[in-house]
Amino acid sequence: MSTLIAYFSRADENYFGGEMRYIEKGNTEIVAEKIAGMIDTDVFKIEMETPYAKEYMTCINEAKEHKNKGIRPALKALPESIDAYDRIILAYPNYWGTYPMAIVTFLEHFDFSGKTIYPLCTNEGSGMGNSESDLKKTLPSAQVKKGLSLTGSTVNRADNKIQSWLKGNGLL
Ligand SMILES: Cc1cc2nc3c(=O)[nH]c(=O)nc-3n(C[C@H](O)[C@H](O)[C@H](O)COP(=O)(O)O)c2cc1C
Repeated sequence: MSTLIAYFSRADENYFGGEMRYIEKGNTEIVAEKIAGMIDTDVFKIEMETPYAKEYMTCINEAKEHKNKGIRPALKALPESIDAYDRIILAYPNYWGTYPMAIVTFLEHFDFSGKTIYPLCTNEGSGMGNSESDLKKTLPSAQVKKGLSLTGSTVNRADNKIQSWLKGNGLL
């Protein structure tokens, strides 16, 4: 059985418990790297051809417009195939109540039949939002497991939560 972590994450300006800060690495990327250090997995970063703005407020509006208009942003690259993977950890930030539209572009590109999806969502309070039910709707032929929600600004202290979620899913 092979595992893939596919994740979307944004560095640059973000909001951390009341203040805006520029960061080098996004919260979800920090988690994806932690998981890659804990289990045997391939890793793929989902990146938009034209990334959202570095400024938080502009990014917020761009992402909202993509969601409202149902835009599937073009991606920089895609894995040639996901056939080799039966388990996919899909990690993303909560954007406006669900996953970013770049995740939709990724999901619509492949056939996920028979695969097991493990959603992981970093957020600043909305938890998984609608992302688990959206995933089930988008991937009716995949098995979508219960997701892990992590507060983005505390991912550096989340090792125990991540490990017990991986263990609970037989991934560790
Ligand atoms: C465009 C945008 C929309 C967001 N919408 C929400 C939201 O609806 N609920 C929430 O709890 N956090 C929201 N956030 C906060 C992010 O989910 C949180 O900071 C996350 O950890 C960012 O992950 P990243 O650093 O990997 O990109 C939003 C952030 C951005 C940039």
